[in-house]
Amino acid sequence: MSYTKLKQGKAIPFGEDLTIALIQPNDLQNIIEMFDDNRVNTYLFFAPADESLYQGFLSPIIENTQQAIKDGEWPDNPTFVIRDLHGKYMGMTAVTQVMFLRGNYEVGYQLPVCAWGKGIATRSCQMMMDIGFNELGAHKISADCYAGNVGSHKTLEKCGFSQEGRQKDYFKMDHGFDDKLYYGMTKVQFLAL
Ligand SMILES: CC(C)(COP(=O)(O)OP(=O)(O)OC[C@H]1O[C@@H](n2cnc3c(N)ncnc32)[C@H](O)[C@@H]1OP(=O)(O)O)[C@@H](O)C(=O)NCCC(=O)NCCS
Repeated sequence: MSYTKLKQGKAIPFGEDLTIALIQPNDLQNIIEMFDDNRVNTYLFFAPADESLYQGFLSPIIENTQQAIKDGEWPDNPTFVIRDLHGKYMGMTAVTQVMFLRGNYEVGYQLPVCAWGKGIATRSCQMMMDIGFNELGAHKISADCYAGNVGSHKTLEKCGFSQEGRQKDYFKMDHGFDDKLYYGMTKVQFLAL
């Protein structure tokens, strides 16, 4: 797939009724609202949080993205926003560098409740795999999630990721604990899909 337009900061079709584009400053408010929804943040270790925390995390990514678009490069941590054809926010996805490790990336996706159950996470994950392995030179893409987050690990498994580890009682929940699941895919495994 050609990502020329996407890399230029333009929205491209994402299936029949959605578009996807690199993150922009005016996406921030939709993302913050999504993170503050308790149905969305049940399995997000970083949410809910003060708005300043989200801004502190996302603003450098947005600034780096704007510079990368000007330079005709991929951003350091390509992060994308999905919208429907009316511009309604339908989620975000990213393929981000693992600090200090060349060729190691992590995939992530977070959708507002209105976007669940339509295959958007699966499609997002597949696009992040394609960009990671074919555009960014990844040799390994990883992901982790709460064991209770069935939608998340089923998405990874559907996309061909293997479970590579499990940490018992890693996350403290309102009631009890939850395990942390580690998923991964190598470039060799990706090419064999
Ligand atoms: C988890 C999440 C990303 C799933 O997105 P989605 O677009 O609904 O997932 P998909 O439609 O691509 O579904 C992928 C698979 O997971 C299954 N699935 C999705 N949500 C599920 C749920 N809550 N319970 C059980 N299975 C679920 C789907 O049925 C599908 O499997 P199938 O094809 O065998 O039926 C979405 O619910 C979400 O954004 N949650 C909040 C944020 C979050 O937890 N992000 C992940 C952090 S690691």
